[in-house]
Amino acid sequence: MQDVAGKVAFVTGGASGIGLGLAKVLVAAGMKVAIADVRADHLHKALDEFAQRGERESVLTLRLDVTDRAAFKAAAAATEQAFGNVHLLVNNAGVSVLGPVKLAGFSDWDWGLNVMIGGVVNGIQTFLPHMLAHGEGGHIVNTSSMAAVVPINNASIYITAKAAVIGLSEAIRGELAADGIGVSAFCPGPVQTNIRETAQVRPEQFKHDSGYGEIERELAKRENSPLWMDPLECGERILRGILRNDLYIFTHREFREGAAERCEALLGAFPNEPVNTARADGIRFLLRNAIFAEQIARSR
Ligand SMILES: NC(=O)c1ccc[n+]([C@@H]2O[C@H](COP(=O)([O-])OP(=O)(O)OC[C@H]3O[C@@H](n4cnc5c(N)ncnc54)[C@H](O)[C@@H]3O)[C@@H](O)[C@H]2O)c1
Repeated sequence: MQDVAGKVAFVTGGASGIGLGLAKVLVAAGMKVAIADVRADHLHKALDEFAQRGERESVLTLRLDVTDRAAFKAAAAATEQAFGNVHLLVNNAGVSVLGPVKLAGFSDWDWGLNVMIGGVVNGIQTFLPHMLAHGEGGHIVNTSSMAAVVPINNASIYITAKAAVIGLSEAIRGELAADGIGVSAFCPGPVQTNIRETAQVRPEQFKHDSGYGEIERELAKRENSPLWMDPLECGERILRGILRNDLYIFTHREFREGAAERCEALLGAFPNEPVNTARADGIRFLLRNAIFAEQIARSR
C-alpha cells in the first residue's frame, strides 16, 4: 500500500498496547479503523480515548475473540457495513503464555496456539477473500515477536506460535504479491503494554491442567519498564513498514547481533561440501525464494 489515507484497517487486539498505538497512528494517517478485542474494558477505554481526541467517527470497536470464526465473520461484515472495503488486516492479538516447557499442560499449548496461530489463520481466512474480491490492493501484518528470531528459554509455546507467524507470513507473501496484497511479519522487542494481564483473558476451559497459573499471577505484578518502547512509536514503525512493504518489521536495533548469530548458525549447519549441480538443477524451484532478494534490495 503506497498510501493509507481514506482506506480501512481491521486490527485485532486493537484496544490495548501495540494494537491501540497502531490504531492511533492509522487514524492520524487518515484511515478508518475497526478495533477488535476480546476485552470489553479495553474497548470502552480505547473508544473514550478516541472520543477525547475528536476521532470517534474514525473507529469502530468490536468485541471479538479471534479464535471464534463465526464472530470473526460477523466482525468483518460489521466493519464493511460501517466503513466499506477493508484494505489493511493486522493480526495482532496475543497472550503471554510463558513458562518452562516442563510445566506446560495441554491447555497452555492449546490456548496459546489457538490464539496466536489460530487467530492469525482466522483473520486471513476471513478477510483475504474480501481483499481479493475488491481488488483495491491491501496489506496483511501478522504480529510475531523478536523472541521468534532470537528465542529465549521458558517461552516455548509463545515462540512456537510466533515462529509459525513468521513462516506463515513468508509463505503467503510471494503468493499474494501478484494480487497487490503485501504481507509483513511484525517482530517487536519489549514494548510498554498490558500483556502482563494475560490471566484475565484465559478462558475457563484452558485452565484445567495449566502449569502456568502461578507464573501468570506473578507476571500480572510486573511493571512496564520506561526503557521499553512506547506503543505509539511502535505503531509509527509498523506504518512505515506497511508503506515500504517490508517483509519483516523490526523495532529494536539491539537484537541485530543476536539475529546475526542465528543466521550464522544456520549457514554453519550446511554440509561443507560441493553443490551437487545435477540435484540442484532438479530442484531449482526449492532453492531460492524471491521474497528474500527483494527485501535485501529494499533494505540497502
Ligand atoms: N509487549 C511486548 O513487549 C511484545 C513484544 C513482542 C510481541 N508482542 C506481541 O504484540 C501483540 C500485542 O500485545 P501487547 O503487548 O500490545 O499486549 P496487550 O495485552 O496490551 O494487548 C493485546 C490485546 O489483545 C487482546 N486479546 C488477547 N486475546 C485475545 C483474543 N483471543 N481475541 C481478541 N483479542 C485478544 C487483549 O485483550 C489485549 O487488549 C501480541 O501478539 C504480543 O504477543 C508484544
